[in-house]
Amino acid sequence: MNGRDLVRSMKAVGSAGAAQRLRTVRAAWRTRRADAAGLPARGAERARVPGPVQDVEPGPGGGVVRFSRSELRITVAVNGAVFWGWDGAGPEPSYALAGRSPEPDPRAVLEPDKDGGWRVVAERATVVVSRHGAVEVQTPGGVTLRRDLPPRWWEPVDGGTARWMQRSEVAADARFFGLGGRASGPRLRDGTYRLWNTDPGHAFGPGDDPLYLTMPVQLVVADAATHLVFHDTTWDGTVTLREGEEGAGSGHDRPGTSELRMSGGPLRCWVMVGTPARVLLAWASLTGAPALPPAWALGYQHARWGFGSEQEVRRIVAGYQERDLPLDAVHLDIDHYDEHQVFTVDHDRFPKLPQLAEDLRRDGVRLVSILDPAVRAEPGNAVYDAGTVVDAFVRDGAGQLVRGEVWPGESVFPDFTHARVRKWWGGLYEERLGQGFAGFWHDMNEPTSFAAFGESTLPRSARHALEGRGGDHREAHNVYGLCMARAAYEGLRELAPRERPFVFSRSGWAGLQRYGGTWSGDVATGWPGLRASLSLVMGLGLCGVPYSGPDVGGFDGRPSPELYLRWFQLGAYLPLFRTHASLRAGRREPWEFGPEVLEHARVALAERRRLLPYFMTLAHLARRTGTPYVRPLWWGIPEDRALRDCEDAFLLGDCLLVAPVLDPGADRRAVQLPRGRWYDTATGRAYDGPGQILVDAPLSRIPVLARAGAVLPVRGEDGGLELEVWAPARGRTGGGLVVPDAGDGWEEPEIERYVARRQGQKVVVEREGEDGVSAPPHPVRVRGVEER
Ligand code: NOJ
Repeated sequence: MNGRDLVRSMKAVGSAGAAQRLRTVRAAWRTRRADAAGLPARGAERARVPGPVQDVEPGPGGGVVRFSRSELRITVAVNGAVFWGWDGAGPEPSYALAGRSPEPDPRAVLEPDKDGGWRVVAERATVVVSRHGAVEVQTPGGVTLRRDLPPRWWEPVDGGTARWMQRSEVAADARFFGLGGRASGPRLRDGTYRLWNTDPGHAFGPGDDPLYLTMPVQLVVADAATHLVFHDTTWDGTVTLREGEEGAGSGHDRPGTSELRMSGGPLRCWVMVGTPARVLLAWASLTGAPALPPAWALGYQHARWGFGSEQEVRRIVAGYQERDLPLDAVHLDIDHYDEHQVFTVDHDRFPKLPQLAEDLRRDGVRLVSILDPAVRAEPGNAVYDAGTVVDAFVRDGAGQLVRGEVWPGESVFPDFTHARVRKWWGGLYEERLGQGFAGFWHDMNEPTSFAAFGESTLPRSARHALEGRGGDHREAHNVYGLCMARAAYEGLRELAPRERPFVFSRSGWAGLQRYGGTWSGDVATGWPGLRASLSLVMGLGLCGVPYSGPDVGGFDGRPSPELYLRWFQLGAYLPLFRTHASLRAGRREPWEFGPEVLEHARVALAERRRLLPYFMTLAHLARRTGTPYVRPLWWGIPEDRALRDCEDAFLLGDCLLVAPVLDPGADRRAVQLPRGRWYDTATGRAYDGPGQILVDAPLSRIPVLARAGAVLPVRGEDGGLELEVWAPARGRTGGGLVVPDAGDGWEEPEIERYVARRQGQKVVVEREGEDGVSAPPHPVRVRGVEER
């Protein structure tokens, strides 16, 4: 270890004791030694490109194009998505797909193109393959959306996994989004982004990359169309993005470029083309519908690392009750475990957990448990012993258990890429349910193993089952959290079949939404952290994971009252609304920041509760359509350039535009409006978009605008469902969807459809049904009629 490593090691373990420091140094050395022995040395390599086309073999949905040194398989699926894979790669097996790969569209066929190339014409896209293996995706009208140059492989001369590179060009006006949870988005500017789920080891800000949840999913938004491209490869890689530039009249356009470099795995991808909504629908049909959270998980949740005892939890909950502040869940962190061991309880400090859970539930507050994958490697530890019996833990190439260092000390790690292990782990949630927990918060599952230097995860040589195919951590790492979420979700479905599982996970990959959501991890307390937390939620939503939210207040330090409040006000409009902080960061209860903050936080809490039926509707719609609750402003109008570059506001569903305050000292802010009429919900004043407006943003609230014509479900004073209707502009109509569901079971409420129209000064709202229109079965409250 050199001097720099030593300094890093000291930082890595912070103020922890010398013993732990030593253990993390040992863990890092162990990893190095394991990889030196267990991974093939990368010797000489040979580069390869596809070479010229030789022949083609048409098949269902497309066919195979053979080049002299590779072959390309193209299939257009019935959902309109296009798949292609090199070197014989097919769509399966895949951790991203929700089930089998969709059926090929029989109408799509491979046909000759000009210059010796080939093409497949499908309903939503045309794919053109050049004679040297460039692949172009065009709109049905023939406009090029992306052009993938012939890929390049580097193969070890002595055999082994090839690494590869795929360079692509996109339109000069295109903007990149996605790649999982990124702190510096949602628009991904020029730079290199790594695809390797990583605990940065400190609270992160906009400059930190990668973070806990990465995925090779890019959403590319351009004038001609939006497309999503997913490279279905779980290995470590990087994406280097460079936005293009338009030729401003006389000059030439410079296309945008994306260069994907992968350390291994198949070169295969899916492309979906259309409007943002269509693209996300196709993505959800491929990778699975987002799990529906129970209604309470759409309320306000409070966590802390270090509640310390049952009495303290009761005291905090009473604090909310005395102040008449709504609270829906309390999250217990690792300090409620016995010596940090998962699936245990410290009975000295939490002697009657089931009783606590029951008492809280009676008051409408659920308990959520943190769960870490690491299991203390110690015979006598029940989870370790039980896991040993089913051979659950990751081993190295020599068959020895792989040991790491996490909160419980020296630990081993379940291999969630094995169905038997998932089944065993999922069964362990019975203990949690018995303690009264209603929801599950997966942490440290990148997986993280503290290391004083090098990477804080398992050795790359560690072996994994990979569903029977066998492989190592280079391939399994990025799907570790995803497979842990699957284990929990499937276990809970069996253990509590009548309830919707509530699982959210720090790490994950494409498809995580099938099992639950995520949160932003340890976001740094500070104004840049506030901005980063919005970037993560928007970016993840565009990758198909619609349920997430930040640690309100930031994880690591003490926010100023103003920063806390602005974070709280933003959080109130995000799917996961949760206050949380680290052990040393101090408290995050709303009354800890002075009476003024408390009063304004109360307003935000009340508004969140009022909007619960709207959030529930958005959750149902996300499940049915893949459309995230939180959407960038360009969602419905991706060709609006000004909106495409706007990152400081968002749409919450179709009805609301939320403009959080992200800077200190602000009491007004500019808002970029999409076209149409919008009402400031606080003042009722109407504004006409498109264009920029300046609105008041006093400390007491953040600007929220409602779309003219919107019909949204809210909770009335009596707790019943009400329709809030914003007057359509003259000559216009409006409407909205409502899914009346306040539960946590599987009943399928019917979607209610409403239309709103103006009759002079009056606004008429009707429900549309199969037999025509009828009066709404809920009270209606019209707003915005007394416009300027
Ligand atoms: C790291 C998580 O990101 C954080 O939320 C949690 O409080 C700590 N681990 C302790 O469990």
